[in-house]
Amino acid sequence: MRTETLDTFITDVASLVSGIDDEHEITKQVADRLSRLLASGYRLPPEVTQPSNERHLNYPLHIAPDDSWSLACVVWNTGQRTPVHSHEIWGVAGIYSGVEREVRYVKPAVSDADKPLTPAGEQDWKRGQVAVCCTTDDDVHAVTAIGDEPTIGIHVYGGNIGTISRRSYDPATGAVQWFVSGWDSPPAGMPPVLDRNVRPDPVQPSR
Ligand SMILES: [Fe+2]
Repeated sequence: MRTETLDTFITDVASLVSGIDDEHEITKQVADRLSRLLASGYRLPPEVTQPSNERHLNYPLHIAPDDSWSLACVVWNTGQRTPVHSHEIWGVAGIYSGVEREVRYVKPAVSDADKPLTPAGEQDWKRGQVAVCCTTDDDVHAVTAIGDEPTIGIHVYGGNIGTISRRSYDPATGAVQWFVSGWDSPPAGMPPVLDRNVRPDPVQPSR
């Protein structure tokens, strides 16, 4: 299902991930590469752009054989939102269509357990824009799909994001719940995106 453009993107990101140690440098260069993919007019396969009325979906586009990184297509129907959550790994997010409102929080230190989270600003992201959403010391946010069409993001993560234990926060109290998002499969009748590591039954959806 991949186009040559996505194959080239995957090859390039694999090279960056294997060749750079510093996560700040990796995310900078992956963000530049993702910006070029979006600017090129790349079109996602339609089977990974289908929203659900129940919750937003995480479709896997590529999972590195050693789980060192993954490429996800995240689809929110209009108005859908995530809880405040962490990622625990680096991540880069680009907007393929629609508009995303991101509200960021300072990542609580161990000594801040059970204290309200500290807001760190909010921003709207639109088609073609790319953000470094996460490094391991700064990775807490919530996302809402605003606008009048589904919001679709192409995300690169420094691990297999569908299988990593992550935190969901109550920002008012700092209370934490751990979750694993899993991966989603395309709707029935559409071809599978990947044949490995796909778990269609997430414990708690997030991205
Ligand atoms: Fe996120």
